[in-house]
This record gives sequence, structure tokens and C-alpha cells, in this order.
Amino acid sequence: MIGRFSTQHKAGTVKAAPPAPSEGAAKPQAPATQQAAPAKVLPEPGRRDKKPGKKPRAKNDLLSAKLRIHSKLIDEIDLSDLDQLDDASLRRQVHALVAEIVREERLAMNASEVVSFANAVFDEMTGLGPIEPLLQDESICDILINGPNQVYVERGGELELAPVTFADDDHLLRIINRIVSQVGRRVDESHPMVDARLPDGSRFNAAIAPIAVDGPLVSIRKFSTKPLTIERLVSFGAMPACVAEFLHAAVHARATTVISGGTGSGKTTLLNALSAAISHKERLITIEDAAELQLQQPHVARMETRPPNVEGKGEIRQRECVKNALRMRPDRVILGEVRGEEAFDMLQAMNTGHEGSMATIHANTPRDAITRLEQMVAMGGLNVTEEAVRGQIASAIGLIVQASRLADGQRKVVSVAEVTGMEGNVIQMQEIFYFDRTGTGPNGEVLGEHRASGLRPKCLDDILTLGTHYNTAWFDPTRDLNREQP
Ligand SMILES: Nc1ncnc2c1ncn2[C@@H]1O[C@H](COP(=O)(O)OP(=O)(O)OP(=O)(O)O)[C@@H](O)[C@H]1O
Ligand SMILES: [Mg+2]
Repeated sequence: MIGRFSTQHKAGTVKAAPPAPSEGAAKPQAPATQQAAPAKVLPEPGRRDKKPGKKPRAKNDLLSAKLRIHSKLIDEIDLSDLDQLDDASLRRQVHALVAEIVREERLAMNASEVVSFANAVFDEMTGLGPIEPLLQDESICDILINGPNQVYVERGGELELAPVTFADDDHLLRIINRIVSQVGRRVDESHPMVDARLPDGSRFNAAIAPIAVDGPLVSIRKFSTKPLTIERLVSFGAMPACVAEFLHAAVHARATTVISGGTGSGKTTLLNALSAAISHKERLITIEDAAELQLQQPHVARMETRPPNVEGKGEIRQRECVKNALRMRPDRVILGEVRGEEAFDMLQAMNTGHEGSMATIHANTPRDAITRLEQMVAMGGLNVTEEAVRGQIASAIGLIVQASRLADGQRKVVSVAEVTGMEGNVIQMQEIFYFDRTGTGPNGEVLGEHRASGLRPKCLDDILTLGTHYNTAWFDPTRDLNREQP
């Protein structure tokens, strides 16, 4: 039964763990069978808490025993065999082996403790070990590991240290390797950075030595099974209902929308939420590095880029995906993030019958988003004049929605700007709504309100022509849009 595990025995490890070692049974504290509970050493489960003096010791013993057993198992197990086993039989084998080691080591555990202990070891082998509980915790959206002894999580927009550590660099590295090998990637000194996706869809990035100086670095953006809808974003205060209603109407009326923002500012969330405004009759094509979008339309074709393989070959970049998407009769193309040479093809698509296409971009203001787009096109090395590029941008893009994570962790839409055309060589923009920060509260919270600039968007005509009602009183700049009703 454990032969599969015995292919990598090292001298001095628990090689002497054949089935049913009889010497274990002879030792005074070891249970003769798994069922026998050595109750005299460990307190009754129900009573443990009443003996505060003993609790910490038992806990520490168990912790160190778990780490010891885990490293023994790793010594014994041929990790490459793990893939060939289904979960149930792997779990059985781990249980048998753990029970044996517990006997050998004469650890004071009763049968049910051995079972839960073996479960924890199993999680350690197949799951993400110590961070598994963080992944289950729905209030956490990012997990950031800086070496084995420091794990941060983001909760409610703010970073906090999690009470979780790894045994050492090797322990963390083993878990990283397991994750990336599941998606056919590799991470080692010659390829020290890797992107992958966890089985639950979460985005995973790791960097190891020599790039990472103080131990392996891991960043996980958790996949939310229940993506935030526009209504929920409004209820969180990300934007007032009237701004949400305007964006919904504009996207519905095929205003080409770019969502701009910094890292983790909520761009993908916003893109996903706004996509709900797209008619179910349209054919959508999404292009992403790691599919995060969860569009609700029935007709969605999803594409993902592919990084190069270990020989550095076979890469499929976003640009190729965009070009291919245009041969697939899309009504709209939705690009997870525009960040390079594909910007030009995307602009062309937006200008040639794919109005209403959407993308996110890393930028700090709507104006900055335009500049970045220009730079991206320029980096593509195409022989296009600056003026032509600006002309393309001005005619392609309708709205730029700026997302931001504020100093207190709140994520908000801080600006909705409209691109109105060109004047001379300059792209013209007007802000329709903005977040006006008025001060800071006693606990450091950001105070402010959303306001209209007073300008009427050009796309309002398209919205009204489609028969969508929008109360134009919301464009009155004197109103506090969060509170006042027109
Ligand atoms: N308005 C909001 N209120 C609360 N949480 C939010 C809000 N918007 C986004 N989030 C959460 O913040 C996290 C980051 O959001 P998201 O992935 O959309 O950011 P991003 O800007 O696309 O990040 P990246 O630059 O890394 O791609 C997610 O877990 C998301 O659920
Ligand atoms: Mg994103």
C-alpha cells in the first residue's frame, strides 16, 4: 500500500515503516491499534480548555510533531506520483502512513486525533498548507506572502498581518512548486517568476530566488465566486446610484468604455459589473491573461493568452488574440487589461464596428490613461504619426471611468470622464462626475461626496435615442449626489 510512497527513501528516514511494525506496539505509550486511545496522556477533548496550564504545551507539541511528520512524509513520498492518485486513495494512504509514524514516534494521540492530524497533513500535501484557511475566508481578497514568516492579507481594503507562517523557505517553495506544476509551469533559478491560477480560479504569482531576496514571494488575488454587481457597488458607497445608472445606460448605448485605475483599485470588478448593461443579444469576446471576468450574458466567447513554455516558445500574446477575435464576429471585444502593443489593434476594433468594446488600463487619472494608450501604441513600433494615434483614440473612446482605492481602503469611482474629440493636436475631455474629497474623519476615514461637473455628456443623445430614461437633473453641480434627490 505504501510502496508508492517508498520510491524516494533517503538513508536515515522512516524507511523502516513497513506495514504494521510490531515494535511500535511494544512501546509503553504507543497504541497497539488505531482504535486504542491513549487517554492517560492527552486530556479528554471536552476538558482541555479547563486546564489552561497544559494547553499551550500540548498545542506546541502537536505543531512540532506535525512539521516533523510532514517533512518525513515529504522524504518518503515521490511527489510526481501524487498526480496519478485520486483524492480518496491518496487520503487513505496518507492516513495509514501518518498512523504508522505516530506509532513509531510514540506520539500521544488518540484515534480521532490521528485522523484529524492526518487530514491536516493531507491538506498540507495537496492543498496550500497553512494558507488554506485564508483561501476559505471570504472576507479576504488578497494574500501576500513575503517569505516563510510573513503573510499579509487584504481585508476591507486594508492590509493586515495574518497569524500564519510556513516552516521554512523549502516548505513554501514546495507549495509554490505544487501549484505551478499543476498548470504545467515551472519555477526555478532560471525561471524565477511565474503566473498561475489556483483550482478555484484565484490569480497566483510567485517570485523566488534569485529575484526574491528574503525568501519566496507569493501574491494571490482571490477569485470571488459572487462577483460584485453594480447594485452592491452602490450599496458599498463606491458610487451613487445616479452615477451607476448613467454608466449602465452609457454602456448599454454602446459607449466604448475604458476603466482606469491603480493596482487593486477595483478595475476588473467594475468592468465585470458594468458588463451587465450589455444586451443579451450581443456576441462578446473576452481576452484576458487569466480569465477573471464572469459575464452574465449567454453569448460569451472567452480567450486567454498563453505564456511561453519552459523552452521560451509557444507564447500567444494579447495582440494575436485581439486580431483573432476580430475574425470571430464579435459585437464587442472585452479586454481584461490593455498594457502593450495590442492597444493599437484594440483602438482599431473600437473604431470599426465594435463600438461598446471595453478594457481596463493601469493609470492614475483619465488624462493619464490617454497618455498611456499613446505610449503603448508608440511602443508597438508601428509607423503611425502621433496625430493619427491621437485621432484614433479620440474617435474610439467614449468614457473613461477612474477607479481608486482611497487612503482608508475604500474603493470608489472617483471620476467619470468623456472623450469629446480633437482640437488641433489635443484630445479633448470633459469630466461628468467626480468624487470631491472634503476632509478626513477622526479615524482617518476619507470624507467627501460625488458631484456632477454641470456638463452634459455628448453620449446622452445616444442614451435617450435608445429610449432609456435618464433624469438630467443629476447633472446639476450643486447637488450632493449621495444624498439629495432631484
Ligand atoms: N467597491 C468595492 N468595494 C469593496 N471591495 C471591492 C470593490 N471593488 C473591488 N473590490 C474588491 O477588491 C479586490 C480587487 O479588485 P479588482 O480585482 O477588481 O482590482 P483590479 O484593479 O482589477 O486589480 P489588478 O490591478 O490587480 O488587476 C477584489 O477582491 C474585489 O472584490
Ligand atoms: Mg484586474
